[in-house]
Amino acid sequence: MDQHLRRLFDNNRTFVEQVTQEDPEFFRRRAAKQEPHFLFIGCADSRVPIEMLTGVAPGEMFVHRNIANQVVSADFNLLSVLQYAVEVLDVAHVIVCGHYQCGGVKAAMGDTSFGLVDHWLAGLRDQVRDHRAELDACDDETARFNRVVELNVLRQIYNLARTPIVQGAWRRGPRPLLHGIVYDIHDGLLKELAMAVDGPEKVRALEARL
Ligand code: CO
Repeated sequence: MDQHLRRLFDNNRTFVEQVTQEDPEFFRRRAAKQEPHFLFIGCADSRVPIEMLTGVAPGEMFVHRNIANQVVSADFNLLSVLQYAVEVLDVAHVIVCGHYQCGGVKAAMGDTSFGLVDHWLAGLRDQVRDHRAELDACDDETARFNRVVELNVLRQIYNLARTPIVQGAWRRGPRPLLHGIVYDIHDGLLKELAMAVDGPEKVRALEARL
């Protein structure tokens, strides 16, 4: 077996040994049910291993990842995850996490064609176009890139808020809270962009930032 692949199985054995040594019933309890507090929507980028970055244990975070952490209203994959998380698992928090140096965001900012992903990132391309004047006025390439990463997160929180799933949940009560964060790949830290969006008032405030 390839050494990189072998390492996955070796590490897995070590992990299970460590966990069960401390808590022999750990996996048995989790096999019975999951009660996550969070739904995480993040980029597929390999440098953003959110469970590792936040120290959550198995069972605490429901996860959906795609290129450039998009919330596309016609994406049945995301909508199925969202509906299950909100209506069945009753998660308290839905987190959209972007990250600096995001290849998807970079692709949407440029003119190079990457095939299928161009379709996937059409919404982000529109957003870049809407902010063309502001972005062109910025001389610093990194600042411009970072700005689009952040705008993208805010937009996806807004898209989430407008789904019938979240709208319906808010009619029933003050859950879930939507949070937009960005991961700084340079220092490993998470930064808060828009926290605790929980209804029309916060959504309007968010709209003003798009
Ligand atoms: Co990315």
